[in-house]
Amino acid sequence: MLLITREMPPEVLARAQAEHEVRELRLQGRFEPRHILDNIAGVNAILCIPADKFDAALINALPDAVKVIGTFSVGLEHIDLDAAAARGIKICHTPDVLTTATAELSLTLMLMAARRAGEGERILRAGQWPGLAPTFHLGRGVSGKTLGILGMGRIGRALAQMARGLNMQVHYRNRTRLAPELEQGAIYHEDDASFLAALDFLSINAPGGKETFHWLNAARIALLKPGAIIVNTGRGTTIDDDALIAALRTGHIAAAGLDVFANEPEIPPGYLALENAVLLPHIGSATIEARNAMGFLALDGIKAALA
Ligand code: DGY
Repeated sequence: MLLITREMPPEVLARAQAEHEVRELRLQGRFEPRHILDNIAGVNAILCIPADKFDAALINALPDAVKVIGTFSVGLEHIDLDAAAARGIKICHTPDVLTTATAELSLTLMLMAARRAGEGERILRAGQWPGLAPTFHLGRGVSGKTLGILGMGRIGRALAQMARGLNMQVHYRNRTRLAPELEQGAIYHEDDASFLAALDFLSINAPGGKETFHWLNAARIALLKPGAIIVNTGRGTTIDDDALIAALRTGHIAAAGLDVFANEPEIPPGYLALENAVLLPHIGSATIEARNAMGFLALDGIKAALA
C-alpha cells in the first residue's frame, strides 16, 4: 500500500491508484510524526513533500514493511538519509522536471523586486494611485546588471541562461567550478567576498541543510553593494531572516523576493511590514506541467524501488 501524505494533482493520484492500493492523508499545514505512525499499517511505500520531516526518530519507528520513501521534491533535507540507509529504506526524489519552473520563479521574483511590482499592485488595489507621473514608483532595471547565483546546479544554470537573455552578466558561487560548456561565460568566484562585492542581484538556488544554514548572514549582507536585490527560491534556512529584515529596513538591501521560509508556513512578521519584500508561498515548482511531472517521476522511483 502507498501512503500519500498530501493532496496530489488529479492525474498523479489517478496513476498512483492504478498502480497501488492508496491511503491518502491529505494533510494540511504542520506535519507531526503521528500522522504517519497512526496510518502506517499495511504500508510499504510513502509519498511525502518537503514539509513532512522524516527525521531519524520517525524513520526508526517505521515498520520493516516500509521499503521506500518518495518525496515530491528535488530537495531531500527533510529526510534523514543516513537513518533511511541504515534501515534499508530507499529514497527517491524529483530532480530535473522542476528546473524550468523554479528558474522562471527566480526570474519572476527578481523582476518583481526590481520593479516594485507587489507594492505597485497594492497601491493600485487600495485606490491610492495618483496617476502617471515621471517620478512615481521608480524601480531598477536589470539589463546590464550583474546577477550572482549561489548554487549553479540545474536550476541555477537555467536561471543563468534566462538572465543572459536579459543582458545580465552572470557570476556564480558553487562547491566546484563548472566545465566551460556548463559555465557558458559565467564568472566563477572562489570566495564569498569577491562574489558578493560584484553583484547587483543575488539569487539563492542552493539546497538547504547544514551546509548552507544562515549562509546569508549580517556579515555577508554587508559585503553586498548598497542597493543590491536578493532572491531566494532554494530554502528559507539559507537566510538569517533577522539580518535580512534589518538590511531591508535600512535600505542597504533595496528589495528581496522570497518564495521559501525557514519555518513554513510561518512567515517572520518583520517581512510582512516591509513594502520592499516580495513574498510568495513556496510556488517555485507550482506549474501544472512541473507538478504532474514531479508526481510521475516520484511514482516511477517508488515502482522501481518496490520491484
Ligand atoms: C523542491 O522540489 O524541493 C521544492 O522546493 C518543492 O517544490
